[in-house]
Amino acid sequence: MNELDQLVEQALAAIDASADNNALEEVRVSWLGKKGQITALLKSLGAMDPGERREAGQRINRAKSTLLDRLNERRQHLAEIELNQKLASETIDVTLPGRQRVGGGIHPISRTMERIIRLFRQVGFEVAEGPEIESDHYNFETLNFPPHHPARAMHDTFYFEDGHLLRTHTSPVQIRVMEKSAPPIRIIAPGKVFRADSDQTHTPVFHQVEGLVIGRNITFADLKGTLQEFVNQFFEEELPIRLRPSYFPFTEPSAEVDIPWRKADGSTSWLEVLGCGMVHPNVLRAGGVDPEQFTGYAFGMGVERFAMLRYGVNDLRQFFENDVRFLQQFARR
Ligand code: PHE
Repeated sequence: MNELDQLVEQALAAIDASADNNALEEVRVSWLGKKGQITALLKSLGAMDPGERREAGQRINRAKSTLLDRLNERRQHLAEIELNQKLASETIDVTLPGRQRVGGGIHPISRTMERIIRLFRQVGFEVAEGPEIESDHYNFETLNFPPHHPARAMHDTFYFEDGHLLRTHTSPVQIRVMEKSAPPIRIIAPGKVFRADSDQTHTPVFHQVEGLVIGRNITFADLKGTLQEFVNQFFEEELPIRLRPSYFPFTEPSAEVDIPWRKADGSTSWLEVLGCGMVHPNVLRAGGVDPEQFTGYAFGMGVERFAMLRYGVNDLRQFFENDVRFLQQFARR
């Protein structure tokens, strides 16, 4: 018992000298573990004289708690050192440049479509939609294509076995809108169309924006004026438009519209960008509109053509190859 104070001093020194948690644990075991020196003292109490036992027991327990307190202190201290070392070795250099994220962009065809829609909405057109898988009824029949009409052959239609087809133009939306609403009607119908055709200037899928206006006394002059103003707005300059007489079963009279295309060599030629005309009385009737009371005009524009002109792209296929280097040019324009 006389050595107790000395033992405690030794133990405290060992605790303070331990450099890490493992060393500290070894110290704890050697002093306070089952076979530790302090534990051995406590066990020896049994052999003591009862008079001395009480006081000796208290002293030993006090020594034990002194050691336990110091062990905890040391443990915390070591944890702090470890944390500081970690913080020091893992510092972040906030002056390094950050990781750059590559921003995505809207596809030029989508941008063009959005631009066309925005310009027509500004003057009161509403957006209408129809299905891409259509029936012969909407794609041809009600648009005044009789069953064996030669114009059907010009459409290179993709047919399903059950007689449905992939719409070859957005014109079927004209009928769908007339069926659902009464004049005055003022809509555009943007969307994908499909034709079994593929070369430098044709892709099997392309985009159109259909337009339909029906009301009292709607004339060809309204059609021409609307298209001229649209072209001016779209290209942000006053471009002449050229209307050529043409033929569609669903319009009469009909026209195709060309606009000037400045080529790389400086020369200019006309590029056809849309078909249009006054809605045929048969088509009005098929949509439930009385041709004695109402007249209307319709147009269908090729979105890819407008995109090519606006962005100076001369090969249609580039829009669909999805080469990121090509697409990136449009990301922020
Ligand atoms: N649907 C025609 C086409 O795809 C375009 C058009 C639409 C013509 C509306 C006249 C009126 O070629």
